[in-house]
Amino acid sequence: MKIPEWPVSAGRELELLREVLESPQWGGFHEIVPQFESAFAAFQHCAHGVSCVNGTVAIELALDAAGVGPGDEVIVPAISFVSTATAVSWVGATPVFVDIEPYSFNIDPDCVAAAISPKTKAVIAVHFGGPLADMDRLTRLCADRGLILIEDAAHAHGSEWNGRRAGSLGLAGTFSFQNSKVMTAGEGGMLTTNDAALAERARAYANQGRRTGEGWFSHYTLGTNYRITALQAAVLTAQLERLPAQIALRARNAELLRRELEGVKGLAFQNVPPQVGVNSYYLLLGRIEAAKFGMTRDEFHRAVTTTGVPCTPFYPHPLYGNPLYQNGGCRVEPCPVSEACIGDAFWFPHRVLMGDEGTTREIAAAIRRLQSS
Ligand SMILES: Cc1ncc(COP(=O)(O)O)c(C=O)c1O
Repeated sequence: MKIPEWPVSAGRELELLREVLESPQWGGFHEIVPQFESAFAAFQHCAHGVSCVNGTVAIELALDAAGVGPGDEVIVPAISFVSTATAVSWVGATPVFVDIEPYSFNIDPDCVAAAISPKTKAVIAVHFGGPLADMDRLTRLCADRGLILIEDAAHAHGSEWNGRRAGSLGLAGTFSFQNSKVMTAGEGGMLTTNDAALAERARAYANQGRRTGEGWFSHYTLGTNYRITALQAAVLTAQLERLPAQIALRARNAELLRRELEGVKGLAFQNVPPQVGVNSYYLLLGRIEAAKFGMTRDEFHRAVTTTGVPCTPFYPHPLYGNPLYQNGGCRVEPCPVSEACIGDAFWFPHRVLMGDEGTTREIAAAIRRLQSS
C-alpha cells in the first residue's frame, strides 16, 4: 500500500531557505519571521501571532501572558499530549483533569462546569485530532463564570468552528509545528490572539523582556529566549502555502474512507459536529467495540499495522496516569470516558489520508477484510 511519507517539502522550501541563507540574518530577526507570524495569524483569523520554539512553550506563554500562576487551577482534558497539563504546572498552577465526550474525544463542557472551584482561573480546550471542542458551550460557560479560555490548537491548523478558525475563539490559541504536525519545520510553535496587550506580553517573555521597537539591551520584564530561527520561518511559510490543498485532500479521503466503512459493526470514527466546517484531519480517530467488531482494539491495531497502514493504539493512560502526576500536583475528576478510550480507541496519522483515491479504497478494503477474517 502506498501511504505517503511525512513531512514533505518541495522547491518552495528550498527557495525560501536559500533567501535566508544568503542573507546576514539566520536568527529570529530576519523579516521572514514577522512576515510568517502575520501570515499564520491571519490564516487563523487572528490579529497577532507570536512565534516560539514549540507548542509546549506556546501554552506556557499563553498562560503566563494571561496572568495564570501559583494558586490558580486550570481545567484541562484528561486526554491530550502531556504539554497541555505540564504547561499549567510549569507556570506554577494546578491542572484539573476532566473527562472528554465519548466520540468527539474533546473536553466535555458538563465536566468542565462540574469541576469549577473558587480557584479556577482558566480552561484549556484541546481540539483533539483536528475538530474543535464545543466552543459555543465553552465560550458561554467561561464568560458566565469569569474564566479565561485558551485553545490548545496543536492539532487544528486551519480547522473551523462556525466559520471561525482555531485560535481565534478563546483569549489565545497555541499551535505546534513539531515534525508530525500538519505543517512543520521539525520544531516550532505559535501563539495567536486578537488581544494586542496579551500578544505584547507574550512577545516580551519570548524575547528576553524586550519591548517592540526598543533597544536590544533594554529588558523591561522577566523573559527568556523562545525565538524561532529564520530558517524555520522559511520552511513554515512554504508549508502554510500548501496547507489548504492538503486539508482539502485529507477531507476528501476521510469522507471516502468513512463512506466505504459505513455499516462496519463495532467501528466508530470521531464524531465531527456540523459547526466544524473545516477539519485539519491531523488524526483520524476511532473506537473499536470488540464484541461487535470481532477483535479487540489491540488486535485491530496489530492487524491494521501488518497491512501497512500506520496506526497508533491511543495513549497508554489518561494524563493523570503519568508517573509525574501520581503523587499529586493535580486534581482529578471522574473520567470514565477517558479510561474507556485508553482501552478501545486508536488513531491514524494524517498521512494515511494523503494518498490518492485508489489507496484510500485499498485502506478501506483492508479494514473491511479484518472483520470478515
Ligand atoms: C495537544 C498538543 N498540545 C501541545 C503539544 C506540544 O507541542 P510541541 O511538541 O511542539 O511542544 C502537542 C504535541 O504533540 C500536542 O499534541
